[in-house]
Amino acid sequence: MSAPMTFPNDFLWGGALAANQYEGAYDADGKGLSVQDVMPQGIVGPRTEAPTPDNLKLEGIDFYHRYKEDIALLAEMGFKVFRFSIAWSRIFPKGDETEPNEAGLAFYDRVLDELEKYGIEPLVTISHYETPLHLSREYNGWADRRMIGFFERYARTLFERYGRRVKYWLTFNEINSVLHEPFMSGGINTPKEELSEQDLYQAIHHELVASASATRIAHEVSPDLKVGCMILAIPFYPLTPDPRDVWAAKQAERDNYTFGDVHVRGAYPGYFLRKLRDKGIELDITEDDRRTLAEHTVDFVSFSYYMSSCETATQEREASGGNLMGGVVNPTLEVSQWGWAIDPRGLRTILNDYWDRWGKPLFIVENGLGARDELITGPDGTPTVADDYRIDYMNDHLVQVREAIADGVQVIGYTSWGCIDCVSASTAQMSKRYGFIYVDRNDDGTGTLERYRKQSFGWYRDVIASNGASLKA
Ligand code: BG6
Repeated sequence: MSAPMTFPNDFLWGGALAANQYEGAYDADGKGLSVQDVMPQGIVGPRTEAPTPDNLKLEGIDFYHRYKEDIALLAEMGFKVFRFSIAWSRIFPKGDETEPNEAGLAFYDRVLDELEKYGIEPLVTISHYETPLHLSREYNGWADRRMIGFFERYARTLFERYGRRVKYWLTFNEINSVLHEPFMSGGINTPKEELSEQDLYQAIHHELVASASATRIAHEVSPDLKVGCMILAIPFYPLTPDPRDVWAAKQAERDNYTFGDVHVRGAYPGYFLRKLRDKGIELDITEDDRRTLAEHTVDFVSFSYYMSSCETATQEREASGGNLMGGVVNPTLEVSQWGWAIDPRGLRTILNDYWDRWGKPLFIVENGLGARDELITGPDGTPTVADDYRIDYMNDHLVQVREAIADGVQVIGYTSWGCIDCVSASTAQMSKRYGFIYVDRNDDGTGTLERYRKQSFGWYRDVIASNGASLKA
């Protein structure tokens, strides 16, 4: 008998966003600044001393004031889950205070009220590239061990306040991205070119301990809470069958695997320890750290998936564009307008690899196509976008998720990235759109902020309503 080609009945369909990319209201109600407020061009341009008017994230898409209208639209699509992050600097404006900012906490109460109204399950990212700027400037972000305590206080505040309403939590968004973007991902103020590997890996260690510690606190607050890690997933393929290329691809994957291995298995893998030895790095790891890592492993593993890449040790090849990291170009794949390789089958590969390796339930918490959209007038006279390219991308990826489920992989849900258009993380553009919902805002900051349903809106509504049966294989 062949395996069932379907999604589980309780599959969590939905979408994802991050506070700094959609909330706006960057200084409202006592909010402090975050690292994003001084990154007007994302990772592709220089940081500024203070927020500047060209930084689109300061206003985002103004979800802070339009959350009711936005959540109603998500409900109209039939969302079962909504992934969003809490802005750390709304809750602890500087990050090292002892008391939280009540106005910040109250905002997320209101968001949760609205989600509850429609029966949408929240999935909360505790830290999504939003380290309070003060922690970055005064402590050098995660390079400083004291960050563990600040994060524990912040996480405990969230679990105690929202733990009765939020079951699923993620600690750090794409935790492995700190290897490539230490400021955005880890709040590390030292410029990337000057940061020593010793300090970088020590920062990573602090984040991993903080993540395990948050898992401990969540389970103390309520055994019903489920905490996951979040990894930027990229399958690396050897460019050729030359064993040296195969090994190069394996090494690239291990840079990412390390983070899941520690979160799931509770200790550093041997290949990572060897890497540290080879580099002459000695980490400050206390007995307490070891115990925390070992005893507080995650309940599930979540990841983002946009693209795959190739690796080679034998050839000079063009570097591939990519989501914060990448190897060399895969000549067999098409790329997006931003140069990210489109590879639906890679998602099935990742799901199978992660399941085989860790045996933990998997949650796909980001996937989607960043593309330029053109607003046109729809048949009923309202503006829309004919985004068949986005529908094709998502359809093909979801078909591979269904295949992986048939392969026996346990998948909890799927939240597509940027379900409402928001500001891009890497380039800080509005024109790199992922959403089912178009937001009238342009790269120069002009626009009415009106929302319009794209054609993918109805398509996704049908996918959810049919629990995936409407997908085209
Ligand atoms: C992931 C991030 O790296 O990819 C998101 O978690 C980000 O914050 C998404 O927005 C898409 O990347 P970009 O650079 O196109 O916004």
